[in-house]
Amino acid sequence: MSDDLKLLDSTHIMPTYPRQDLILEKGSGCYVFDSDGNKYLDFFGGLATCSVGHANPEVTKAIADQAKKLISVSNLYYTEPQIRLAKKLSDLSGLKKVFFSHSGADANEAAIKLAKKVTGKQEFIAFSGAFHGRTTGSLALTWNQKIKEPFLPLAPAAKFATYNDTASLESLINDNTAAVIVEPIQGEAGVVVPDKNFLSEVRKICTLRGILMIVDEVQTGIGRTGTFFAYSRSNIKPDIVTIAKGLANGVPIGACLSDYNLELGEHGSTLGGNSLSCAAANATIDYIEKNNLMSNAEGVGNYLMDRLRALQESTPLIKDVRGQGLMIGIVLQKPEAAKIVKLTLSDGLLCNNAAPNVVRLLPPLIATKEQADECLRILSKAMQP
Ligand SMILES: Cc1ncc(COP(=O)(O)O)c(C=O)c1O
Repeated sequence: MSDDLKLLDSTHIMPTYPRQDLILEKGSGCYVFDSDGNKYLDFFGGLATCSVGHANPEVTKAIADQAKKLISVSNLYYTEPQIRLAKKLSDLSGLKKVFFSHSGADANEAAIKLAKKVTGKQEFIAFSGAFHGRTTGSLALTWNQKIKEPFLPLAPAAKFATYNDTASLESLINDNTAAVIVEPIQGEAGVVVPDKNFLSEVRKICTLRGILMIVDEVQTGIGRTGTFFAYSRSNIKPDIVTIAKGLANGVPIGACLSDYNLELGEHGSTLGGNSLSCAAANATIDYIEKNNLMSNAEGVGNYLMDRLRALQESTPLIKDVRGQGLMIGIVLQKPEAAKIVKLTLSDGLLCNNAAPNVVRLLPPLIATKEQADECLRILSKAMQP
């Protein structure tokens, strides 16, 4: 990467992200290319946003066709891509109504307002390790004290139960609890998978105690774990579901789904659900369904996890392999994930350190077993003593 560009970046961009030392210029399928023409296998997938591959021809065509017609007219008019997308998401979730946002954090903001409105209560319960976003509302429901403390006080009022421990959840519920918010698998905490019955137990508790259950599918949703929504494996119906990331293959969009309504004037977003992002999302969902990418995510994900577990036998650094579908965490014995990510990068593989001791893989749902093998070869080399 040229020193000139680095200087421009550091002069003009707020330094909120720990950047890798390369400029990515273009992509194709599961690969991206840097400005020097080097090729990388992208098993980070733009942090779970690249669902159907970089420069996917069908999504790209849908974006280009829509851009030639109409990008945004605000939400004061009807637009067909938005209505069609809302119908698709309702059919997929069984939840009747959608509010469109731009990101996961602001989908959760809509969920917070909706839960307060429906219940007339003020408090939320989230879980240890939870990540729900960086806006002040979603940050209040996020666990990591380090990223919250400089901005206290935050709203809404939040308490934290222990993830995967329903007794701790029950003990925190009171007369002012509006809702519980939960990730089916905790991505930012390092791909933490709860016990099989955890979500259904949370559902039971919420129903019994008369509080709402919000499921944050921002990272797990859109087929990544082998089903469109990860919660559907638990045979539950949440009261509110939030999605974003992979919904439009990287075009910014988020959504809050529920049978409950926010009414006229209660919420809004100028660009939320604009025609361009909805056209991209419609094409992304169509592509996932037409090409059976949910079962591909499950099949290639299981293959990759099996091979990683086999690698664990001969690699002392690997402590555990966990995940579901193409959301995979490799837990290390030592806090060396950042070092491994740097090593794999120099060998042409993008992956990520979700936690100091967890390497995370979030490849596009089109990933093949051959690409999984390529990833394993590079990872295996990086993890040798
Ligand atoms: C579970 C979950 N919720 C919410 C968010 C926030 O999404 P965004 O960065 O689009 O605001 C994230 C981002 O990583 C996430 O993983």
